[in-house]
Amino acid sequence: MRFQRNIIITGGAGFIGSHVVRLFVNKYPDYHIINLDKLTYAGNLANLKDIENKQNYTFVKADICDFETICQLMEKFQADGIIHLAAESHVDRSIKDPFTFARTNVMGTLSLLQAAKLYWEAQTEGYEGKRFYHISTDEVYGALELTHPEGIKSGHSAHRVYGDDFFHETTKYNPHSPYSASKASSDHFVRAFHDTYGMPTIVTNCSNNYGPYQFPEKLIPLFINNIRHRKALPVYGKGENVRDWLYVEDHARAIDLIFHKGQVADTYNIGGFNEWKNIDIIKVIIKTVDRLLGNPEGYSSDLITYVTDRKGHDMRYAIDSSKLHRELGWEPSLQFEEGIEKTVQWYLENPEWMNNVTSGDYQRYYDEMYKGR
Ligand code: NAD
Ligand code: DAU
Repeated sequence: MRFQRNIIITGGAGFIGSHVVRLFVNKYPDYHIINLDKLTYAGNLANLKDIENKQNYTFVKADICDFETICQLMEKFQADGIIHLAAESHVDRSIKDPFTFARTNVMGTLSLLQAAKLYWEAQTEGYEGKRFYHISTDEVYGALELTHPEGIKSGHSAHRVYGDDFFHETTKYNPHSPYSASKASSDHFVRAFHDTYGMPTIVTNCSNNYGPYQFPEKLIPLFINNIRHRKALPVYGKGENVRDWLYVEDHARAIDLIFHKGQVADTYNIGGFNEWKNIDIIKVIIKTVDRLLGNPEGYSSDLITYVTDRKGHDMRYAIDSSKLHRELGWEPSLQFEEGIEKTVQWYLENPEWMNNVTSGDYQRYYDEMYKGR
């Protein structure tokens, strides 16, 4: 079958990647979507059970650092677009093992860029109609001050903001963790490939995502699962750090819009104008889980356990995504209250997904489904 476009999505078995793959496979039956993923501990093909047999979907197990294989795959699938999400994504892991982050996030991105460059430059039409879209994080900008520890009402939303400043597209990079340093480095390589070779690249920097299929090492799914099992909720430091939260499907919608309509060589910030102190979000999670499980109000509050702070813990992230709204009309579709309700409900209604992850069984899915295909 001949497709209108052939798009490689890297990291499609991960949290955000699986939502992007699902959106593209369902919305664009004329596109061939190739999910290229190494299936590290964070990759889970069960995230894509509902679309795995679609005609326009192909899964390929590969490592983005394996340059030869990536070159072959570019050619085999005649890829004209890359949406690059594959990465090591967890800050705590980067503090313990920075080398893996440099390898995957920096060298892996460079390997993809070079493979795309060689393949596209060999085409008669060159870079015409091609796109290399790199998904990055707001953490590259560093950390903002908590100038309003109690929060003040903002012009942007009904929510509170905790400082005077925001991350803009022009904010100077100032990463602090090995994770954010590796993402910053990969962003620089992507822009360098535009500036040096004319590759049609785009970079977006997004705030904290939440929603279904997130690996339970991250705050929200970890805490929902711990409450369900009456386990301690480890709050780093005083729980005063602030993050801006965005429902994952809204991020996927933004990626779709920017992939198709974004300006080449440009950068867009994506965020929810939705700042929360960790301890406040934790209280919302406790309240929601308790209500949905039929527990009395406050039942799980005793699980809150203050623990040693994360090393180099960034105080506040707050994204200004007004450029994306102004230029492409994007805005989050869900209020946080709705998003967190949907999220908690999903984890409570899908205990088999969580049990498969926590038991490690999910890592057998590839062998059962794909070996010998
Ligand atoms: P994730 O950890 O859930 O998934 C990462 C995926 O990449 C996994 O499927 C994993 O198997 C795959 N992968 C890792 N190393 C690979 C390699 N060498 N080759 C091929 N595949 C490999 O990550 P996520 O939270 O979905 O984040 C996806 C992207 O979005 C990352 O680039 C991350 O930096 C960025 N981001 C995440 C957030 C967030 O809140 N989660 C916010 C902003 C940006
Ligand atoms: O800002 C975007 C980034 O958001 C992404 O680039 C990262 O890939 C993603 O992991 C996320 O990074 P954070 O470090 O902000 O997310 P995490 O869920 O690990 O932590 C959220 C906040 O909660 C952070 O301030 C640390 C705190 N925390 C986290 C865990 C796991 C705790 O207090 N206790 C915990 O057990």
